[in-house]
Amino acid sequence: MLQGRRILLIISGGIAAYKSLELIRRLRDQGAAVRCVMTEAARQFITPLSVASLSEDKVYGDLWSLTDESEMGHIRLSREADLLVVAPATADLIARMSAGIADDLAATTLLASDKPVLIAPAMNAMMWAHPATQANLAVLASRGVGRIGPAAGDLACGEVGFGRMSEPAEIVAEIARFLVKNQRLSGRRALVTSGPTREPIDPVRYISNHSSGKQGHAIAAALAALGAETVLVSGPTSEPTPAGVKLIGIETAAEMLSASEAALPVDVAVMAAAVSDWRVASSSTQKLKKNGKGPPNLRLVENPDILASIAGRSNDRPALVIGFAAETENVVANARAKRKRKGCDWIVANDVSPGTGTFGGERNTVHLVHADTVEDWPAMSKRDVAERLAERIAAALVPDTAAAPASPRVPGAGH
Ligand code: PMT
Repeated sequence: MLQGRRILLIISGGIAAYKSLELIRRLRDQGAAVRCVMTEAARQFITPLSVASLSEDKVYGDLWSLTDESEMGHIRLSREADLLVVAPATADLIARMSAGIADDLAATTLLASDKPVLIAPAMNAMMWAHPATQANLAVLASRGVGRIGPAAGDLACGEVGFGRMSEPAEIVAEIARFLVKNQRLSGRRALVTSGPTREPIDPVRYISNHSSGKQGHAIAAALAALGAETVLVSGPTSEPTPAGVKLIGIETAAEMLSASEAALPVDVAVMAAAVSDWRVASSSTQKLKKNGKGPPNLRLVENPDILASIAGRSNDRPALVIGFAAETENVVANARAKRKRKGCDWIVANDVSPGTGTFGGERNTVHLVHADTVEDWPAMSKRDVAERLAERIAAALVPDTAAAPASPRVPGAGH
């Protein structure tokens, strides 16, 4: 149910922290990837070792750890999640969230986040009822922070009343409800091409390029995260296959064309692969040897144009065909001409001049070229480009579904 979804679980320090272990286990059982941040106080109740064992990931907690910051960083911690869940959310952390205080990794990550947040409060009944806590909760609700619970019952302090953290099963169900609501491309099919092609010269040599597959793979991941059934046709890369995506590995442009055609019909095709324009007319089946007569004469022939061919299909043309344009000069003008020539609906233009780092790097600066307009996007990570493009695709294919709210709406807000 939560296959491929990424949850950042922030555990703050209350006796209910023991329930977080069960929450991690249930989320993992549903197929979610769970990364955890623990406050200093949480470490007094449960051990980071138990959390790491259950989440099968490193546990983060120190804002000042050079290792953690260089590996992950508090900004990436939240950006790489679909949803931030604070469970248990203590009165203290709720107060810090409300005031915008960033004095530890948990609070800093929450403040730096652009992702929806769901809190599961847990505290003593008097703390819960205190006007300060209620005022803080009202501030968080006004900012769109979702809440589940707390429930009434026996509290760890021996008192009875509101303050028990909701049960892990209820929290998982609420998370699933939210994430399913966010699946705007559910029931839609997507084809993405990624990476380079390799055109053989002989059994050990080939013509290729520096595409790493980072941009194409990120697009496949973003479409799958919105619920699209996604086929990723990719040349050789070392990028991991995104969760929930069907990978078809190919080497040559001809193989990429037939795998792309086999994936039809789809609602959207995004051609981010760097396809070799040429191949050797007849590659040798034996390794070419120096024969004393100088270098071999390689005759090149043109490869099929996969983008033009998918965009030109009559019966099963995808509703939206999106190409990429890798340019080194007159980026937008060339991309406009390319969009028309290849017959695609949109083209994503990027500058691949030496020094831009577009090929192989983590970031990209793109222009989304439509028939009549051009959107100039600021420099951002390839992942952010992918997510923004996926949002545009969802808006075009399913115009009646607005983007999901910044945070889930959670029932049971009264107490
Ligand atoms: O993989 P990364 O390291 O993350 O780098 C990303 C990228 C630079 C490869 C990517 O952002 C990008 O620009 N991809 C398109 C590269 C390319 O081949 O551009 P082009 O301008 O040569 O081709 C235009 C379009 O036609 C592209 O959509 C391409 O996939 C397609 N094409 C090109 C030739 C061909 N024979 N068949 C095609 O389908």
